[in-house]
Amino acid sequence: MSAQPPSYYEHHIFFCLNKRENGEACCADHNAQAAFDRCKAQVKSQGLAGPGKVRVNKAGCLDRCQGGPIAVVYPEAVWYTYVDQSDIDEIVESHLKNGKIVERLLTPPHLGR
Ligand code: FES
Repeated sequence: MSAQPPSYYEHHIFFCLNKRENGEACCADHNAQAAFDRCKAQVKSQGLAGPGKVRVNKAGCLDRCQGGPIAVVYPEAVWYTYVDQSDIDEIVESHLKNGKIVERLLTPPHLGR
């Protein structure tokens, strides 16, 4: 069995920014853009960004819209449902900076599209 190559980023977080115009649930209706902007700014200002550290990226629909707004962190595949900017600050401080999952913000496992 071959060993897994090291992850380029220690934590790579993706924010769904999908916007639906047909009235169906979408993360853009829950301030996803503001959360993404907040996360990006916090990671940068705390010096966490870069190879071997943290990367913050936009994503389209991650197909778990019922749990939206959604962000997911790889390689550990931890899914978050956040509410406001203080939740984002907690994800940055606890998970992205100190490697500790924020249990209270985990997306319930059964929630899909
Ligand atoms: S619209 Fe965000 S997960 Fe589908």
